Amino acid sequence: MQKTISKTPKTVKKVISIPGDKSVSHRSIMFGAIAKGLTEVSNFLTGEDCICTMRAFQALGVNIQESGDKVIIEGKGFGALKAPEQEIYLGNSGTGMRLLAGLFSGLNFRTILTGDKSLSGRPMNRVIQPLTMMGANIESQDGDKAPLVINPLNQTPRLHGINYQSPIATAQVKSSILLAGLNAEGITTVSEPEKSRDHTERMLRYFGADLKINGLSVSLNGPNSRDNLSAQKINVPSDISSAAFFLVAGAILESAEIRLIQVGINPTRTGILDALKLMNVKFELENIDDTGAEPIADIVIFSSDIKAAVINGDLIPRLIDEIPVIAILASQASGTTIISDAEELRVKESDRVNTTINLLKALGIEVHEKPDGMIIQGQNKKPFNPPKTPWQDLSEHSYYVSDDKIVFDSHGDHRLAMSAAIAGLYSIKPIEILQVEFVNTSFPGFFEILQSIE
Ligand code: S3P
Repeated sequence: MQKTISKTPKTVKKVISIPGDKSVSHRSIMFGAIAKGLTEVSNFLTGEDCICTMRAFQALGVNIQESGDKVIIEGKGFGALKAPEQEIYLGNSGTGMRLLAGLFSGLNFRTILTGDKSLSGRPMNRVIQPLTMMGANIESQDGDKAPLVINPLNQTPRLHGINYQSPIATAQVKSSILLAGLNAEGITTVSEPEKSRDHTERMLRYFGADLKINGLSVSLNGPNSRDNLSAQKINVPSDISSAAFFLVAGAILESAEIRLIQVGINPTRTGILDALKLMNVKFELENIDDTGAEPIADIVIFSSDIKAAVINGDLIPRLIDEIPVIAILASQASGTTIISDAEELRVKESDRVNTTINLLKALGIEVHEKPDGMIIQGQNKKPFNPPKTPWQDLSEHSYYVSDDKIVFDSHGDHRLAMSAAIAGLYSIKPIEILQVEFVNTSFPGFFEILQSIE
């Protein structure tokens, strides 16, 4: 599937409601399924990734009712989970596969986790290794790739706690180990080099687990936690990673004022707001509400004179998913933006250093690759208007430019397709984006919202 996006009118004044947070939606299903009682979820993200997680628990016998963005999960605890009849397909979702690998490691029946082409190429040893240290029995392709066969463990306790120092700041690894820790004897501790998103920790506590957080270390008392998890009401905040596309649109477009309502502003996710500040983008937080498990606010963004910045260090895990669209922002800044310490981008839904650089090149931006990021020469608020390329096919390149359009292959990466669409709002030549169907993994309704500001 493909879509063509062309330049927007000059003045945009809009109020936008963004769908629910992907990370929180995945976890709401997982925790609801292993807790006891009825967990009621509102503003659930009905994107394909989270639907795969929901189908996984239905396959393990959990009764889950869905009605639009409302979900009710009838949890009966770990003990009520039953062997699935088939392999569990997790689509495009690294979060689904890595967290479920931890959660299913301590079960007394076999589960087989599969995914699409992109997910089948992503590294899984980062969870297989620590889970194996805890006593899990997991088979994979070449020790690293899906499908993952998680073999049953019949002894009790099934796993044992470990003290794991993660070499990378990743919430997926941290969460996988903590979820396995629920079925482990003793204490499970995970430390990370920088703070990654903490939705698992917040939700574990909210559901009644015995958890201690000490700086960059999290410890879970498995025996005290597992059987004490009880159902909760969850109102999923709107996803700041999805909001990021319209934050960038608002900053770049002329005469824009866009209000994004009730967006999650968990500090482990607000690296994008720090980047906006560093890049001189004007925005305000209004109606801040810190009373739920996750803080929320309206974010109002205004057209801005954008300045280049250095984006690196412990900011990276707090904005890792937003880097492709931050690169679009940087391309309209005055000066040179440097993005470093982001080698994790290479193992996302696509190699996002590569695919982001291809997008910038398609837009006519000067960009240099680094092993851990990129250097972007901003063109200071000038609509994209790249020259024709000498090629017009996509067999060797991921893009081409003709007299009347830019064609960009998103390689099935949802965040690249959406970043290209945002660039299309500020482009003289319309952008034709290939493989846009993957946008539904995280942001159903994206193109409808985009059309409302086009
Ligand atoms: C996620 C963690 C991040 C992020 C992903 C969602 C999560 O991945 O990129 O989209 O829900 O835990 P890493 O933990 O691998 O950085």
